[in-house]
Amino acid sequence: MVVILLGPPGVGKGTQAVRLADATRGEHISTGDLLRAARREGTELGQKAQGYMDAGELVPDDLILDLVRDHLTGVAAEASILFDGFPRTIAQANRLDAVLSDVGRQVDRVVLLQASNETLLKRLSGRRSCSECGAVFNIYFNDSQGDGICDRCGGPLLHRIDDEPDTVAHRLQVYEEQTAPLVAHYQAHAAGLVRVEAGRGTEEVFVDFRAAVG
Ligand code: AP5
Repeated sequence: MVVILLGPPGVGKGTQAVRLADATRGEHISTGDLLRAARREGTELGQKAQGYMDAGELVPDDLILDLVRDHLTGVAAEASILFDGFPRTIAQANRLDAVLSDVGRQVDRVVLLQASNETLLKRLSGRRSCSECGAVFNIYFNDSQGDGICDRCGGPLLHRIDDEPDTVAHRLQVYEEQTAPLVAHYQAHAAGLVRVEAGRGTEEVFVDFRAAVG
């Protein structure tokens, strides 16, 4: 099964994807996480992506497709795959179809998480991410036990540069212009699209998300 999780910045894609991958032992592929890992490791890709990410712009499609293709080579042919934050443009969606088709697979489900802008802004302003292991917390909704310290690995928790208010506003605009067209695209795709209201507690959202994946 190949699942795509769509939705605007801060709606909870990563939070829900980690839960589903834990519950199903599926492969969670977050292009945002892969890019942040590349930056931490100082790879050429990480250096190329840095300026785009910090400005709230999308990283060019060719770089993203190379990253996804490389990552997929290490994934077992029968593994369930959950894409989080990918695809983000119509061009990425079309190229994903081609990549999957080459290995006899296809997109099976597309789930759109949606919430009000007010909810997105509060979640992004409160998010704190571990700079070492990537674990995600929120000072309003699920804070870490230690003051600014990751509960999982003890690393320092940081507010992402792209979670600063001006950059968040730009990311929301980029989402509307470049990613929101994927909603109509997948409604017309064989996989179809299921909407889940994500402006609720994490557990409630997960129940509906899991049912949508089937
Ligand atoms: P990426 O990291 O993918 O950012 P995003 O899509 O903007 O999504 P976020 O990570 O901001 O939010 P999320 O929906 O995962 O929410 P989360 O679960 O963390 O991408 C970053 C950048 O990389 C992009 O801007 C771009 O430059 C580049 N990039 C990545 N993929 C790309 C691609 N395919 N093409 C081109 N460029 C790409 O939750 C947010 C907060 O809310 C957390 O604090 C969480 O604890 C909290 N929370 C979550 N759910 C709930 C809930 N139900 N109730 C209360 N709090 C909640």
